[in-house]
Amino acid sequence: MLMSILINHRFITFEGIDGCGKSTQARMLLDYLEQSGEQVFFVREPGGTPISEAVRGILLDINRAELSDRTEALLMTASRAQLTDELIIPALEAGQWVIADRYADSTLAYQGSGRGIDMEWLIRLNKFATADLEPGVTFVIDVNPALGQQRRSAVNDRIEEAGLSFQAKVRDGYREIAERFPERIIVLDGSASITVIHKQVIKEMTRRKLI
Ligand code: ADP
Ligand code: TYD
Repeated sequence: MLMSILINHRFITFEGIDGCGKSTQARMLLDYLEQSGEQVFFVREPGGTPISEAVRGILLDINRAELSDRTEALLMTASRAQLTDELIIPALEAGQWVIADRYADSTLAYQGSGRGIDMEWLIRLNKFATADLEPGVTFVIDVNPALGQQRRSAVNDRIEEAGLSFQAKVRDGYREIAERFPERIIVLDGSASITVIHKQVIKEMTRRKLI
């Protein structure tokens, strides 16, 4: 059953280019909330349900170079729709926190700025895929593509195979959408230490009276 939550303050997303350090920060917030006695559900995209993980397998397979940009956008959002319906909405309805390592903004940055698909269309596609659900706050961990590459594993998936100039476009995309949705999206300097960034996350959550 879909519901019209619009913004859910217990739904927190982490975003950024590959290797920026967002999974590290997402896990640290998970630990912080759990230590405060909260129930937290952790998801990562694309994936998170059996159907979404099957779609992820197609999306990241280095041998599927023929996958078109439009198909990529549709599969990313198909994976999101399934995850949202099957796990995220039920968890929020049960009063749990949900922390997502990537969500709708990844599609705007990667398929929009990265691949060059019209942003307005992708925003509408995301609204369909998320059933209008929006995070209470989104943290974008901003690093330059060289630092991202240095931090991530040496083995490229199909999307990482697009290279540093693609990652630079994606980074610009995140900055653009942060300007467009300034109330929801907070950009943090990912070149700072893990601890410093975590403190900024907690400070922002506190400032927003989320915790
Ligand atoms: P992402 O999820 O964005 O791909 P990860 O959180 O998995 O990135 O981090 C990639 C690597 O970089 C990991 O080895 C992690 O320990 C390291 N790392 C993450 N954040 C920082 C940071 N702020 N400074 C230095 N190293 C970091
Ligand atoms: P993953 O291994 O999860 O990378 P990371 O640790 O950087 O999150 O791979 C996910 C890849 O899929 C990553 O390159 C970003 C890309 N992606 C999109 O292009 N669009 C999307 O909507 C999502 C969710 C991910």
